[in-house]
Amino acid sequence: MTSSRHYLSVTVLAVAGLGAAATGAEDVPTGDAARGARIGYTCLGCHGIPDYRNAYPGYHVPKLGGQHYAYLVAALGEYRAGARPHPTMKGQTTSLTEQGLRDLAAYFATSEPVRSGAAANESAPKAAEACAACHGSDGVGLLPEFPTLSGQHADYIEQALRAYRSGARQHPVMNAMAAPLKDADIDALADYFAAQSPSLRTAPLPARPQAR
Ligand code: HEC
Ligand code: HEC
Repeated sequence: MTSSRHYLSVTVLAVAGLGAAATGAEDVPTGDAARGARIGYTCLGCHGIPDYRNAYPGYHVPKLGGQHYAYLVAALGEYRAGARPHPTMKGQTTSLTEQGLRDLAAYFATSEPVRSGAAANESAPKAAEACAACHGSDGVGLLPEFPTLSGQHADYIEQALRAYRSGARQHPVMNAMAAPLKDADIDALADYFAAQSPSLRTAPLPARPQAR
């Protein structure tokens, strides 16, 4: 079991286009968190409010606190590039430079990253076996490029998996992973990962940064 698992993870990492060099890489922000706090203050109007919801379709705004820095950079870049459709997030990122994306991600990544409790969970649905090589058995992304799902809002995870399955959200690995999932699998996976701890958090609302 251990060796076949290892083989699987090596295979999927190769499929994901990640070389051995990425394995075990530290998730060290290369952006300027202080600048990110200034340009990112408006983000907290949605991401800083616990249980805030997106309108039409209604689902929770994703938690960013504790998420991997590298994934946050990638996610913002995907909205900017249009690989992820969402009018507000497109609007928030359109005029940002690469450095601006990194500064914002560094700001949100100042929150302590979620670390795996590493306990294999007996209650995992069958469909979660295919996710563990990248997202861990408890939903904590094993590399900085793999988002942590642990404690994320269930309805947001569900929305994300449906968007990958339909192709509305474009990412070659996740489009392939989501393609065979049935609605019942998506519901079970979303409920399972949302219930794991330690958990992602709503980004804290810090004191308003001083204008300079
Ligand atoms: C009007 C509310 C709103 C504002 C303001 C807003 N966001 Fe978002 N954000 C959302 C919603 C809703 C989503 C989920 C969209 C989707 O389904 O892809 C999201 C998604 C994200 C994601 C992806 C999270 C993930 O797990 O993939 C990141 C990162 C993010 N926002 C960062 C920011 C930053 C940085 C700003 C400020 C520059 C910002 N947001 C401003 C509502 C908002
Ligand atoms: C080969 C590695 C790999 C495997 C296996 C994998 N994922 Fe992913 N997953 C990723 C990557 C990389 C991303 C970021 C994609 C992007 O930028 O849109 C991601 C993104 C996600 C997201 C979006 C998170 C967010 O915050 O928006 C969800 C939900 C998700 N995966 C669930 C799953 C589930 C459920 C499975 C198993 C059925 C799975 N993944 C299997 C690599 C993987």
